Amino acid sequence: MRPVRLSVRTSGFQPEKRGSIPLRDAIVFFHTTGDANAIRLGNHQSCGIVPKNVATVAKIQDEIPMKKNDIIQQLVASANAPLPRATSAHPLLYRDAEIAQLEHERIWTQDWLCVGLAAELKETGDYITFSVGNEPIFTVRDADQVIRSFSNICRHRMMILLEGSGNTNRVVCPYHAWTYALDGQLIGAGHMERTEGFDKSDICLPEVRTEVWNGWIYVTLNQDAPTVRDCLSDLNPIVAAYKLDEYVPVLKEDHIWDTNWKLLAENFMESYHLPTAHKATLGGWLPLDKSGFPDVVNGAFTYQTFEKTDDATYGVAHADNTHLHGVWRKTSVMPTVFPSHMYVLAPDHCWYLSLRPNGTGQVHVRFGVAIAPEVDAALTGLERHKWMSELTHFFDHVNKEDRFVVEGIFAGSGASLAAPGQLSWLEREIHDFQKYLAAKLR
Ligand code: FES
Ligand SMILES: [Fe+2]
Repeated sequence: MRPVRLSVRTSGFQPEKRGSIPLRDAIVFFHTTGDANAIRLGNHQSCGIVPKNVATVAKIQDEIPMKKNDIIQQLVASANAPLPRATSAHPLLYRDAEIAQLEHERIWTQDWLCVGLAAELKETGDYITFSVGNEPIFTVRDADQVIRSFSNICRHRMMILLEGSGNTNRVVCPYHAWTYALDGQLIGAGHMERTEGFDKSDICLPEVRTEVWNGWIYVTLNQDAPTVRDCLSDLNPIVAAYKLDEYVPVLKEDHIWDTNWKLLAENFMESYHLPTAHKATLGGWLPLDKSGFPDVVNGAFTYQTFEKTDDATYGVAHADNTHLHGVWRKTSVMPTVFPSHMYVLAPDHCWYLSLRPNGTGQVHVRFGVAIAPEVDAALTGLERHKWMSELTHFFDHVNKEDRFVVEGIFAGSGASLAAPGQLSWLEREIHDFQKYLAAKLR
């Protein structure tokens, strides 16, 4: 093929500018470098520095910002390529405000999101707050022991009703004390007797679709979304075998990390970083050649399995566990339910993440840990206290290791010389995630 002469007008370029040039069937990315005499040009697989003095003018008009569609096109190209030819996404997929808006419209207001474990709402009136596509909600166990979710906005003058988590037998607005029952019905509103047409029985907090599946609570704003049960039917036999719905919650925390939500999701999905980033904690227990992946790519979830070494501190079945057999007694399954619910389900414990974006550069992280009932039953007194404190310390350490890398990648993605690189076979789930994202954003 005859080489294409790529023409770029160099005058007027500012430092640290990016853009793209549609060229035949490809998208060529460019950005200026710190070197006033060079421009970096490339596609998603290769790049090079081009001296400015060999570049001439073409269609680029001074500075063309990288377009949302170009970023998505690169994502689609990688998603459609076989894994051996796939690459990481363009850096701007993690930083572009228009992409974030598209995700809001097509992902966060459409898909099922995980609030946490149903066992975290054990008693009548136990509640926890969350948000779905910027919509504050609370999820509560009602008087009939049904887990339901409601808008967390008062129907009087829009005050946020509940914060954090706790237990209550009614929801009282902190502004003027309008009071709602656990089914969302307004049952108290003082000094409204002179207001025409006011009738408490007409007023109820809007309910948000909620479904409990294998012990997880999922919510969605999408009235037409297929049920969780249908979306995850192929995952059910694997998760159900662990009897997760009997696990006992022991830890739940909310954090904000300085990274894009997709970078944290992708970090969870690949084991490639374990021996390096987690060498001080769990890196040595998970031989990478024991990683397993599903045969079929599913649009709603992905997972991998890990067989632990026999000396693993956590992750093997307790002697009183009678429902897991053979290699499954030391195997963990790590599902990601798209877009943002990820967990490690081990024979003795489960830890999970549920993510929500806070703009492009921050992510809300809900982190929780639960332990198998036989592990819970065996722990008493001082031993329990010691075990719990070691477990908490261990996961703090693991989370710090992950936070270091995912905040580092986000910082790296803002550099003018950042560019996509090729993926390893161990990053198979990232490729699955790209397929999900491409289907949503294209
Ligand atoms: S805003 Fe809630 S009672 Fe007024
Ligand atoms: Fe990690």
